[in-house]
Amino acid sequence: MTNWVENAWYVASWDAGIDTVPVAHTICNIPMVFYRTLDRSVVAMRDACPHRMLPLSKGIREGDSIRCSYHGLKIGPDGVAQEMPLKNERVNTRICAETFVTHERYRFVWVWIGDKEKADPALIPDLWPCEAEGWTFDGGRYHVACDYRLMIDNLMDLTHETYVHSGSIGQEEILEAPIECLVEDDTVYIRRWMPGVEAPPFWAAALKQRGTVDRWQICQFNLPASVMIDVGVAPLGSGATIDKHDQGVRGIVIDFMTPETEETHHYFWGMARNFETHDAGFTARFKQQQGQVFAEDKDVLEAQQKAINANPGMRLNAYSIDQGGVRARQAINRAIKAQSAVEGQAV
Ligand code: FES
Ligand SMILES: [Fe+2]
Repeated sequence: MTNWVENAWYVASWDAGIDTVPVAHTICNIPMVFYRTLDRSVVAMRDACPHRMLPLSKGIREGDSIRCSYHGLKIGPDGVAQEMPLKNERVNTRICAETFVTHERYRFVWVWIGDKEKADPALIPDLWPCEAEGWTFDGGRYHVACDYRLMIDNLMDLTHETYVHSGSIGQEEILEAPIECLVEDDTVYIRRWMPGVEAPPFWAAALKQRGTVDRWQICQFNLPASVMIDVGVAPLGSGATIDKHDQGVRGIVIDFMTPETEETHHYFWGMARNFETHDAGFTARFKQQQGQVFAEDKDVLEAQQKAINANPGMRLNAYSIDQGGVRARQAINRAIKAQSAVEGQAV
């Protein structure tokens, strides 16, 4: 059994990461090749030629098809063979590469992992800030050599900012403010309200104002593996509350963790914001800063995964700060269990 939910959409790539040239990504232990056809739709196929399994990502594009670069089998975008290695040989259309359903939304290419008939775009997690009016969104991607759930734990527990990101967004008050954990079905929230704190450098710059502010952090986990973090500051006395805070500057960190294998994942990160939305330079500078912050997490989490593997006699312990990650993992486990129960009935 895998440690991720199936019959779900996972982010395979940023929209810009897939073009006409085939690219290979392993998603949930499935090696896949991705490319765009002339009408720009995204093809996803198992990255192994049906003949002798040379990766199709090494193949040559021909129109909307792909020709294996070993013996020349030509496969159409629907995965079905179009030409055999021997030119005069009758095409056997039972020869097919497995294909996967894709959908584009929020500037991401999503791929459905599970039963194809169940692939419904309405089931894509709601990452509303990525396309909301009055917001702008950009970000990047990292390959991280750790179980994707360690990244979820990390994002649902921002106390680590004080130590891991002391140079940028960390501040002592994060450790002083009480946290509140809410669970609504499979959505988990961790909310932290920090009234009257000194604006940390990033937020002072965003607000264009130094001094005391109200600061908030609201982490929201959704199945199968997204975390959105509503963060920002508002000038004191502006009436901002933990429930409603469009007064100062507000950003929503977007994170999606796509398992690659049990112990590696593709980390898609970004920030949607509702201030200076037309300033492309700010977006680019901010993306770079954010990339540096998340590189600090990548370092810590890869070291953590190595230590987990090197100490099989130990187990992860959860303290009060970890309740968000614990609840998120419970939601994942419930979904995995529910799924295997359904599969058990089907057998
Ligand atoms: S391995 Fe692809 S045609 Fe032979
Ligand atoms: Fe972090």
